[in-house]
Amino acid sequence: MSKITVWFLRLAMIYFLIGALFGLDMAIVPRHMIYRPVHVHLNLLGWMSMMIYGVAYHILPRFSGRPLYSDKMAQIHLWLANIGLIGMVVFWIFYNKGLLMVFSLIEFISILLFVYNMLRTVKSITMPPPPGS
Ligand code: HEM
Ligand code: HEM
Repeated sequence: MSKITVWFLRLAMIYFLIGALFGLDMAIVPRHMIYRPVHVHLNLLGWMSMMIYGVAYHILPRFSGRPLYSDKMAQIHLWLANIGLIGMVVFWIFYNKGLLMVFSLIEFISILLFVYNMLRTVKSITMPPPPGS
């Protein structure tokens, strides 16, 4: 497994734990429902997306039979996805609209990098002809 994959999987597990803790906290302390977007994005951008990123970086180059289009882009993706998410979480908690927007944009750019890198990686997958044709 590449370092990128390992890091995404490790971080996904950490976000899962923290995201679930926020859920538990909301279930126990009703006035903490204001943390719902924090809980949701730690789980969906942190746990689920990062798990998918890690698995995708491992599996998709193997499916397509060619190396990842850009390792550099994947590395920048790893940093931006985490900086973006942590910033979003911090500025949702200590609400700051301007900084929330900045970190949301960083998160979005990370998503664009992932999508572009993956599309370029799977670009030339061709299906083999069916047997007997
Ligand atoms: C121990 C685990 C978890 C607990 C205790 C928990 C608890 C909660 C609570 C109390 C709410 C607020 C519900 C309300 O608005 O009345 C909530 C909302 C939500 N949770 Fe969790 N949760 C957990 C794990 C997860 C996971 C793993 C995910 C996703 C992968 C998730 C996704 C969501 C989403 C999307 C919402 C918002 C739903 C909406 O918009 O109405 N939760 N959760
Ligand atoms: C760049 C990435 C993203 C940004 C900047 C973003 C931003 C936001 C914002 C500003 C809200 C409204 C929060 C509020 O009620 O105050 C929201 C809600 C929500 N987002 Fe995202 N989001 C992103 C990615 C995603 C992804 C990838 C998913 C799912 C896989 C997701 C699932 C949700 C859900 C379920 C809600 C409703 C939460 C609730 O019930 O309170 N978001 N998002």
